[in-house]
Amino acid sequence: MKKQGVYECEKCHEVFNLNAAELKDMVPVLIGYACTYCRIKRGYKQPDDHDLEKLKFIEDLLPPFPVPTQRFYYSRDRPFLTKRRIESVDRLFDKRNLITLSVLFHEICNYPDEELRELFKLAFSAGLEFVCRLNPLRPGAKGYSTRSGLTVHELWIPAVHCLNNPLIIFFDRLKKVIAGKRESYERCRNVKFARDINDILKGKANCLIVEDSATNLDRLLCGRCDKDPVEKNRCEGCIDFIFTDPPYGESIQTYELDFFRNAWLFPDRLDFWRDEIVINRNQGKDREIYYLYMRRVFECLYKLLKPEHYMVLTFHSSFIDVYNTIIIGATVAGFKLEKVIYQPPAVPSAKQSLHPYTSAIGDYYIRFKKPREAKKPELPTSYDEKVFERVVIRHIKEIIASRGEPTPYSVILKEIYPRLEREGFLLYAKPERIQKILEKYGEVLEE
Ligand SMILES: C[S@@+](CC[C@H](N)C(=O)[O-])C[C@H]1O[C@@H](n2cnc3c(N)ncnc32)[C@H](O)[C@@H]1O
Ligand SMILES: [Zn+2]
Ligand SMILES: [Zn+2]
Repeated sequence: MKKQGVYECEKCHEVFNLNAAELKDMVPVLIGYACTYCRIKRGYKQPDDHDLEKLKFIEDLLPPFPVPTQRFYYSRDRPFLTKRRIESVDRLFDKRNLITLSVLFHEICNYPDEELRELFKLAFSAGLEFVCRLNPLRPGAKGYSTRSGLTVHELWIPAVHCLNNPLIIFFDRLKKVIAGKRESYERCRNVKFARDINDILKGKANCLIVEDSATNLDRLLCGRCDKDPVEKNRCEGCIDFIFTDPPYGESIQTYELDFFRNAWLFPDRLDFWRDEIVINRNQGKDREIYYLYMRRVFECLYKLLKPEHYMVLTFHSSFIDVYNTIIIGATVAGFKLEKVIYQPPAVPSAKQSLHPYTSAIGDYYIRFKKPREAKKPELPTSYDEKVFERVVIRHIKEIIASRGEPTPYSVILKEIYPRLEREGFLLYAKPERIQKILEKYGEVLEE
């Protein structure tokens, strides 16, 4: 062993990472059970010869209905970035669960009522993470915690994992889905679904769900004027308010992490990764392409929004490395940054408690406005690091002075952006630059 999880082969000296090494064999180490006779709700036992024999028998059976066997690859030599240890969807499950799931899914797909069928599919796909090898077995209150589900943003197989019974999980998820539906009915009364934007503009409906890439939004949504080219030229936008939670760079590979659910639900429509807005080298998308996609979406949104109206983005601090890309994309599309609101987490994280003045954990809400007069964003032609530093320090001092108390980094970050924008520095104001300046001049600033 070289360092944690990294090993070197004694023979060929090839170095490999255990987290990514393919799984060859797995052995059952513990069986959880419930007994209806003595009312044990949760018992555990070591597998005995009888259990092992039975499992071996099941291992040789075939699922009676088709199961997904797609591989975690974009093409032959381009695996999913998050792929660890396992090559294809079916290998996430043991034979016993694969057989149960194949029967259950077959029954769901043949259920006559469409609305219920879709509800069942939702519960089915929500349960998958608890019945596959992505689900770790952890110590818990009553011996073990068996329903952690996906715990990391990777398709990682914990060495000791837990395969729950798919039927129990399905009915449990179904209960949760129904409770969720009840709540949403209560909160959002009078929802009427529209077929297209015209239903909304004519007041016939109030909710339109569009199943398409956000990069096509302009094409889909400009309803009032779409029919009439003259009207279309005149239209400055039809939408009153935009609220969005866009994809943030590299840290969450949504397509890859949802793949094992989608492979069950719609195996024929799995190529939508091509539209995914993400940074992922195996999809051939670097930061520049991510920026171009985001800018394209902002341009669509800009076109759709009425002048003098607002767009609000949510932004979680763990995506700080694309903060600027997002702000620049929106600004270049014509939006004007107005205000950043910071919402600290309910429970401060360990990192923030340790470094309250240089780390910013929590959610941001970034408010942009579509100005009445479109104007090109100003990009300063030359840029002097020293000048920028001075400006940043001046603003930090002002922010701290106006609060008159020690000021966490998160507060500085949210207040400094609108200030820098007013002075034409917005497009250079990377959070890591501001952080560096803070660290460099920490003592000066404490005066
Ligand atoms: C930050 S997440 C939103 C999460 C959501 N608010 C929630 O709470 O579940 C961003 C979402 O944008 C989706 N996305 C990525 N590319 C897209 C595209 N081209 N069009 C529409 N959505 C896209 C991602 O799949 C991801 O689900
Ligand atoms: Zn018993
Ligand atoms: Zn229009």
